[in-house]
Amino acid sequence: MSERLAGRSAVITGGGLGIGRGIAEAYVQAGANVLIAELNEEAGAKAATELREQYGANVEFVRTDVADRQQVQDMIATAVEHFGRLDVLVNNAWGGIPYARLEKTPEGSVRAGFEVGAMAAFWGMQAAFPELSKHGTGRVINIASLNGVNAHMYSVAYNMAKEALRTLTRTAAREWAEHQICCNIICPGAKSDAYNRMAAASPENAARMDAANPMGRLGDPLDDIGPVAVFLGGDDCRYLTGNTLFVDGGSHINGVQWAPNVD
Ligand SMILES: NC(=O)c1ccc[n+]([C@@H]2O[C@H](COP(=O)([O-])OP(=O)(O)OC[C@H]3O[C@@H](n4cnc5c(N)ncnc54)[C@H](O)[C@@H]3O)[C@@H](O)[C@H]2O)c1
Repeated sequence: MSERLAGRSAVITGGGLGIGRGIAEAYVQAGANVLIAELNEEAGAKAATELREQYGANVEFVRTDVADRQQVQDMIATAVEHFGRLDVLVNNAWGGIPYARLEKTPEGSVRAGFEVGAMAAFWGMQAAFPELSKHGTGRVINIASLNGVNAHMYSVAYNMAKEALRTLTRTAAREWAEHQICCNIICPGAKSDAYNRMAAASPENAARMDAANPMGRLGDPLDDIGPVAVFLGGDDCRYLTGNTLFVDGGSHINGVQWAPNVD
């Protein structure tokens, strides 16, 4: 991959594992400075060390719980302090909300989902705006899900948060177009750590998902999701904003029927 993000700086939430880790590596390969903001301290530190050692890249890790507004604001400040500028914010972190039928979903799950999945991006975007609007290079990439778009079953907290995130992104795209900030959404399909956990809990679901994918496989975080995130973070996407890109081998076209096992 050419150095399409040379001189640019990015914050990637949840960048220690899975899709976030893949995007972080793709950004490093494209020449960007990267701040990995991650709740899992071990995974975040390991990812930053590996990327520094493998690529000689300018990669930092800051332990961050994106459900905490102050920590999100500190994350943005840390990136600016380390790199002197911030061009790209990737809101990718998600975790910890159990699957349940709608009628059995505790209100707390919905609230927690909103904080990690939607409020975190809102806080991050507000805090990053002064930097994102400085150089005409500002980009926001929010990671949503076909799960929300298609209203898959037994994940109402997830679906609500992800669809709020999409309209946040589109609203920012409209309001911030005058600042040349492009805001887009990726709905990915990839074999991440979360996918591996799901596959271990429900191999039959995982097999169904693979078989239902038009390309016959779920994607790879680095090689399939990474390049699209690089495109959305760079100059090639300067006239593309407010879009949802399904980076999923085509599985959104006819939809993928799936549901986790719940009581
Ligand atoms: N894997 C897929 O096929 C798929 C499909 C649709 C959407 N997504 C979305 O892609 C994104 C990444 O998912 P993934 O599959 O790589 O998941 P993952 O569980 O493999 O990685 C998520 C990362 O976020 C981190 N994280 C969790 N809570 C956090 C918090 N409060 N603060 C900071 N970091 C936190 C985790 O530690 C982990 O490193 C998520 O937003 C997910 O909803 C993934």
